Amino acid sequence: MKKLKIGIVGIGRIGKIHIKNISENINDAIIYGAAKVNVKNLPYLNKFGVKKTYNNFEELVKDPLIDAVIISSPTNFHSEHIKLASKYKKHIFCEKPIDLSMDKVKEVLDLVYKSGIKFMVGFNRRFDPNFNKVKKFSVAKKIGTTQIVKITSRDPNPPPIEYIKGSGGIFLDMAIHDFDMARYIVGSEVYSVFSSGKVFGDKKIEEQGDIDTAITILTFQNGSMATIDNSRKANYGYDQRIEVFGSKGMNGINNKVIDEHFYADSSGFHSSIGLDFFMDRYEKSYLIELKHFIDCLTNDHEPLVTGKDGIMALAIALAAKKSLEKGRVVLVSEILNN
Ligand SMILES: NC(=O)c1ccc[n+]([C@@H]2O[C@H](COP(=O)([O-])OP(=O)(O)OC[C@H]3O[C@@H](n4cnc5c(N)ncnc54)[C@H](O)[C@@H]3O)[C@@H](O)[C@H]2O)c1
Repeated sequence: MKKLKIGIVGIGRIGKIHIKNISENINDAIIYGAAKVNVKNLPYLNKFGVKKTYNNFEELVKDPLIDAVIISSPTNFHSEHIKLASKYKKHIFCEKPIDLSMDKVKEVLDLVYKSGIKFMVGFNRRFDPNFNKVKKFSVAKKIGTTQIVKITSRDPNPPPIEYIKGSGGIFLDMAIHDFDMARYIVGSEVYSVFSSGKVFGDKKIEEQGDIDTAITILTFQNGSMATIDNSRKANYGYDQRIEVFGSKGMNGINNKVIDEHFYADSSGFHSSIGLDFFMDRYEKSYLIELKHFIDCLTNDHEPLVTGKDGIMALAIALAAKKSLEKGRVVLVSEILNN
């Protein structure tokens, strides 16, 4: 079978994971070329057999040999890259968030829909085998009616300030994964959002108008509720937990740690710290999401994570940001209908 030829833009933390996964573990596709490559990344491309480079993204999408693109550039370039890929009818896998502006997201998705290409957003946690079990329990109503979803999502360390500057802040860059997960598990749209947050650590984060610690309460249209707590610095490692409480019981996922060993002595119980970061914790999910994307292209079905999912998660994140600024509950409709 002919292998799909994928072009990539943005070879940073996440782009490198996608290149490795396609090259080593996905039989039906290859990374054919990369655009706007920093010379320091050439050895990485060589290592995975990516031979072709393009001066800019338009050159890449103009290449008739390219079937689809992975957009893993910094967030502020996503909409420009989506526009170009839609123009040349290349299927798109785009990292989250689609963009920081709701208007821009609506504009580029309109182009995507008109061009008839496939479009998937990188909400990889939906493909995590553990979180997936929680979703399956909710769908099967094994815990009855979902009443409360509790998500804890804490990074081991904040990203560099340069990254924070263009990231859109904690809600649009980090918590957006959790907003998508809560919405995915509950299976209903979010009605209202209330957030609280502040900076406890590096004041440079505050200078960028961002925070490092937040709590968000979501109320869904079907009456379910979710609480999400985020921190950019957990000194015991990456901390990712979910608990779903319902009328017939509860289920969840504890934090994954480096190993399961523990010991106890007179000072108490001791066990391993959490995994290093998202690259380790969600390793499998990144591979499964790309396998899914390639499968959607080869077998012509719609991706599990659509443009609408990208819009709804962004709307919740923008509502959380507004809630923090205004100190009040914000309706998601205020963001969507603005
Ligand atoms: N799904 C996830 O778990 C996940 C994790 C991390 C990042 N992300 C998302 O992926 C995107 C990239 O994040 P990252 O952490 O890899 O960032 P990064 O800063 O590590 O890498 C970005 C790369 O893009 C390159 N670049 C800069 N300007 C460019 C341009 N104009 N055109 C092409 N390339 C350019 C940089 O040289 C760098 O190699 C962001 O949108 C982020 O939100 C998603």
